[in-house]
Amino acid sequence: MASNKVDEVLRSLERMAECRYLPIIGPVRGKVLTDLVRRAKPRRVLEIGTLLGYSTILMAKELGSEAEIITIEIDEDEAELAKENTRKAEVKPRIRVLVGDALDVIPNLEEGFDLVFLDAAKSKYFECLKLLENKLNKGSLVVADNAGIFAFSMREYLDYVRNSGKYRSRFIEVDRDGIEVSIRL
Ligand SMILES: C[S@@+](CC[C@H](N)C(=O)[O-])C[C@H]1O[C@@H](n2cnc3c(N)ncnc32)[C@H](O)[C@@H]1O
Repeated sequence: MASNKVDEVLRSLERMAECRYLPIIGPVRGKVLTDLVRRAKPRRVLEIGTLLGYSTILMAKELGSEAEIITIEIDEDEAELAKENTRKAEVKPRIRVLVGDALDVIPNLEEGFDLVFLDAAKSKYFECLKLLENKLNKGSLVVADNAGIFAFSMREYLDYVRNSGKYRSRFIEVDRDGIEVSIRL
């Protein structure tokens, strides 16, 4: 029953995003994200860039009630919609939608994230990562969307995760775009 509910909400958000040209991760790149979450089984997840809560729900669907997802959204109206959508999806993890600029919110978060999903302003990925780096556990995953089409805006971020020696990083090409997946060493 819960699985039907969550799928119903996901399909309706996909339709809404298509009609309103909203930049959700969508089912194709979303499959890469859900596979990563299913394998890693993170207990604490941080998402930056909530929009409607679509990717939040995709991740939550893979996790149990012991998991917590904190998601940050700068736009108050989108954050309200996301709260409503995550509630309707009846997923098991606790979901906290925080409203504000991720750069202001991150420093106030408790440390100990097992997975971070970066999906807000691409040019801010590096700054976000630097702010949250000391809140990552060893072996945590940092997943950055749009590392194909926005590689230029993310250049500093991609250079850092690929060459700093602090991460093992790989690019997964998908859906004429890609996702950078970096493991904190
Ligand atoms: C690509 S959308 C997120 C899509 C969502 N992750 C999904 O796949 O369903 C990017 C979102 O990031 C939000 N955003 C942009 N800059 C932000 C910031 N500095 N802090 C928090 N959220 C931000 C935007 O308002 C927008 O809703």
